[in-house]
Amino acid sequence: MFDPHSKRMNTVYRYTRHCYDISRKFFLLGRDGLLEELGKQDYKSICEVGCGTGRNLIKLAKMNSSNKLFGLDASDLMLKKAEKRIKKLRLEDQICLYTGLAEEYDFNKQFDILVFSYSLSMVADYKKALNNALEHVSDDGVIYVLDFGNFENFPNLIKKLMYKFLKIFSVYPGKNELFSFLKRNNVFYETRDIAGGYSFITKLTKS
Ligand SMILES: C[S@@+](CC[C@H](N)C(=O)[O-])C[C@H]1O[C@@H](n2cnc3c(N)ncnc32)[C@H](O)[C@@H]1O
Repeated sequence: MFDPHSKRMNTVYRYTRHCYDISRKFFLLGRDGLLEELGKQDYKSICEVGCGTGRNLIKLAKMNSSNKLFGLDASDLMLKKAEKRIKKLRLEDQICLYTGLAEEYDFNKQFDILVFSYSLSMVADYKKALNNALEHVSDDGVIYVLDFGNFENFPNLIKKLMYKFLKIFSVYPGKNELFSFLKRNNVFYETRDIAGGYSFITKLTKS
């Protein structure tokens, strides 16, 4: 794994991956709501970009056993964790994992749904990652972005502390930049805030 960003992600998760699922439960708000929304939809293939330990993919597989699920992550350490759990649950026929960067990975196919769950704020180049995602979603497909918001309804001190805390983990929230990018590129989107701007969920479609 020679790519500098992948190395950085492995450094971030070298030790924290062991307690990732338990600790992030309290920070990564909105994930189960998003999975429920996905569970209600009739899709055949879904790809999670920055799937980490595979927590979301495993939940999706348990919700519907007939769909094909794919996960991409820059960190092979996180993927090893995911792989182990997927094998233990005998879900390897339903979930395929890939190591690589959101900005450049070529799947050679398109998906019905792509999901960035708290990963877009960690990629080195969010514009490239989104352009690549748009290439990989079918014409009537959907891309979901769930991520940290601007903490707009939080006191200034808390807001500053949150940005500092997230920086330790190489997380750089960029909600406004994302919306400007989507407007400039005529990508249709609907969005809603979660917990007073702590996070947000945006649904992108090509038309
Ligand atoms: C905060 S974790 C979120 C994991 C999972 N999506 C969840 O909701 O629990 C972010 C993940 O994105 C991955 N990531 C960061 N930059 C990436 C990139 N450029 N390409 C692919 N994955 C990336 C990290 O390695 C990490 O596993």
